[in-house]
Amino acid sequence: MSGVWDVAGGPSARRRFASLARSVRLFRGFLVEQTDPDHFYGLLADDSVRQVGGYSALAGRTVLDVGGGPGYFASAFRAAGARYVGLDPDVGDFSAAGESVAGMVRGSGTALPVQSAVVDVAFSSNVLEHVSEPNRMLDEMVRVTRPGGVLFVSFTPWLSPWGGHETAPWHYLGGDRARRRYQRKMGRSPKNRYRETLFPLSISDVLRWARGNGDVEVLEALPRYHPWWGRWVIRVPGVREIAAWNFLLVLRRVGDEPGGAARKTELTGGRVAM
Ligand SMILES: C[S@@+](CC[C@H](N)C(=O)[O-])C[C@H]1O[C@@H](n2cnc3c(N)ncnc32)[C@H](O)[C@@H]1O
Repeated sequence: MSGVWDVAGGPSARRRFASLARSVRLFRGFLVEQTDPDHFYGLLADDSVRQVGGYSALAGRTVLDVGGGPGYFASAFRAAGARYVGLDPDVGDFSAAGESVAGMVRGSGTALPVQSAVVDVAFSSNVLEHVSEPNRMLDEMVRVTRPGGVLFVSFTPWLSPWGGHETAPWHYLGGDRARRRYQRKMGRSPKNRYRETLFPLSISDVLRWARGNGDVEVLEALPRYHPWWGRWVIRVPGVREIAAWNFLLVLRRVGDEPGGAARKTELTGGRVAM
């Protein structure tokens, strides 16, 4: 992990990071996700840590990964010097990458077993669409983040080409129909079951939540995997649901540190116009 990303790089560094070459690399990795998950999720974890490092220093910081999954993110965050804690309701999931389960917590993002205002970076990658109460999970992530800390939340919107996950693109004809089709063709139920483990969440839903929450300010709202010049799609309601592919919201927890002066934040981003 390059140390250069372990400091908040500011808008120009973030722009250099979001290159076309990076998007192509991620897309190629995504194409082999099923056959070579180690490659794709290792790539995604390294990429995510570098991206988070563009908003917050990581060395010595406490990172809570809500829905940490198979453990790929653990090694990437730890390599950047972070104190990483992964949380997932599924123990099998977070040990799949061969990681020890030490430093991992079993729990749900909707009721975090974590004290308030103790986390420097609350991170969640591709989890929110799997939660029946996404706003509750977002509120919980805000609660545990210290004032000045950063929240980094991404998910696949329902109307994204990959919104139906393994049932895509048939989800465009309806989630139940897509699920039935998958069952018929594959002889088994999909892992991501409509309205059981996969919910139709939109970018607009999450932006509405963010606007209504006085404890956070929006630093960035991005199509996560796009090059920087593709960011405009987020400003177009409707189009963004399809064209963003995966949505990333970067927030800063506002307010004073409990019991003292506010710790200087490393964040350099400004408010996002929405
Ligand atoms: C698609 S995986 C994402 C894993 C990893 N974060 C990534 O980006 O590759 C979704 C994860 O969300 C977890 N999950 C589902 N419901 C959850 C909840 N209520 N709270 C926290 N995690 C949850 C699942 O167990 C699974 O590990």
